[in-house]
Amino acid sequence: MTTILELLDIRAAYGQIEVLHGIDVSVEPGKVLAVLGPNGAGKTTLVRVISGLLRPTHGRVIIAGTDVTGVSGDALARAGLCVIQEGRGIFPRLTVEEHLRLAMPRRRGGSELLARAYEHFPRLAERKRQVAGTMSGGEQQMLALSRALMWNPPLLIIDELSMGLAPKVVQTLYETVQTLAAAGTTARRGRADRLSGGHRARPGRAVSRRRHFIREE
Ligand SMILES: Nc1ncnc2c1ncn2[C@@H]1O[C@H](COP(=O)(O)OP(=O)(O)O)[C@@H](O)[C@H]1O
Ligand SMILES: [Mg+2]
Repeated sequence: MTTILELLDIRAAYGQIEVLHGIDVSVEPGKVLAVLGPNGAGKTTLVRVISGLLRPTHGRVIIAGTDVTGVSGDALARAGLCVIQEGRGIFPRLTVEEHLRLAMPRRRGGSELLARAYEHFPRLAERKRQVAGTMSGGEQQMLALSRALMWNPPLLIIDELSMGLAPKVVQTLYETVQTLAAAGTTARRGRADRLSGGHRARPGRAVSRRRHFIREE
């Protein structure tokens, strides 16, 4: 089976300072991978490398068998990548439904996608007219997730899924990501940083949790 994400000996630096010293990762479709590490370990830098915002000084990024190292954002999206950056990209004054409508792909049946999002996250359905700025952190993360899932991305990466959230909320979000992975979304996540990605997995396929640690040398 083709891996959905493969990182081969990734090195990345800011100026002369190298931050990633050779990261190898391989994620299969339908699987969840956590990336763990203390503050400053390089988790966000890894997200930036995968999402094309920072060119690695060495190594390759491969999505679904295609080498996407250094390609443009739209080419990455075509390859199947969707990223929820740190901070979730929520607009405080827009309502839940406005966020979802803005995220809708134009060509497809919008109301069906909306209904699916609300089915995944009933809490959002209850709050569709609430402005996002007044929602809790966990609800905002659900909104960011549901927005990303409108695209049914083969590979979803979440930076800082759990930041600032209560353990119980984090647990619920982890379970959500597991469910999504089982249904067709591979997820990659970390304690502070969570990368989640997915591909249509076969129904009933077990999701195995894996963790990748970034440590000081
Ligand atoms: N834009 C930048 N310019 C210079 N150094 C940076 C920049 N962004 C991050 N760094 C440094 O890179 C290291 C890794 O940061 P980061 O990837 O944000 O870690 P994490 O997400 O694991 O907390 C840190 O030492 C940080 O100070
Ligand atoms: Mg970070």
